[in-house]
Amino acid sequence: MTTDLTGKSVLVTGAAGAIGGEICRSALAAGAKVAMTDIDADALERRATELGGEDRVATFTADLTDDEQATALPARVAQRFGALDVLVNNAGARGVKPLLDIEPDEWRRTLDIDLTAPFVLSKAAIPLMAEQGRGKIVNVASMAGLAAFRDRAAYSAAKAGVIMLTKVIAVEYGEQGIWCNAVAPGVVETPMTAGYFADDDSTASIRANTPMRRWCQPDEIVGPVLYLAGSGSDFVNGIVIPIDGGWTAGYVGAELSPRPKQK
Ligand SMILES: NC(=O)c1ccc[n+]([C@@H]2O[C@H](COP(=O)([O-])OP(=O)(O)OC[C@H]3O[C@@H](n4cnc5c(N)ncnc54)[C@H](O)[C@@H]3O)[C@@H](O)[C@H]2O)c1
Repeated sequence: MTTDLTGKSVLVTGAAGAIGGEICRSALAAGAKVAMTDIDADALERRATELGGEDRVATFTADLTDDEQATALPARVAQRFGALDVLVNNAGARGVKPLLDIEPDEWRRTLDIDLTAPFVLSKAAIPLMAEQGRGKIVNVASMAGLAAFRDRAAYSAAKAGVIMLTKVIAVEYGEQGIWCNAVAPGVVETPMTAGYFADDDSTASIRANTPMRRWCQPDEIVGPVLYLAGSGSDFVNGIVIPIDGGWTAGYVGAELSPRPKQK
């Protein structure tokens, strides 16, 4: 079943980025009206121009760590497109350093964009969606929110937080017609992970830990996101879908009963 979003109004945060851009492209192809938001105004305009879409695309530059700007956004989108049917909380950022080197300000900045912004946007979107009778929130978490990774204390804590925020919203507002689900990507080849691909040890480690023996491309994230945004998931609420090639399903390198070596 392909997802049909004809006429639906979809707000995507981090829309200038690699994954956000692909989510916007696929939502447009599914018939949606797409509200693209990002802090990077130039990159946002470039991405919107590249996607085309004419009057089915609108751009909103905003810093989502600014509570006022984030709070205002859902109503601005509803005003522009007549409704807000889907909110995709995709914007994010992360640092990579040992916990002992993370300054409290840095910790707070990561939590601000990765956890507090989805909370503030959801808080503003839920009343609009409830008034409409239905609405779907899809949070882009990370496998780092499902399993611990070294040097990612703030990011992992924020992404684990957004997974639990997802479940609380589903439990608290499901009866008002609100769905809230999450996806948890593994390693995706984007500017955020560029460092991994400059280094053979990193790519070897990614292959060794992934049952699929590869990493993924941004357009491989959109299938599950669209599924959670569309009506095909109408009895699915409060879940997290790992999109990680099986990384967090188990311990791919660990053998309790090692097979005899082939001669
Ligand atoms: N790339 C990966 O391997 C990977 C893996 C798991 C999860 N994710 C998650 O996927 C999402 C998208 O990541 P990506 O790889 O496309 O990264 P990206 O850097 O290409 O995109 C992130 C976007 O968020 C925007 N953004 C950052 N701070 C913002 C702010 N304060 N206000 C508004 N916008 C802001 C950036 O400008 C950027 O366009 C993130 O939440 C990330 O944590 C990525």
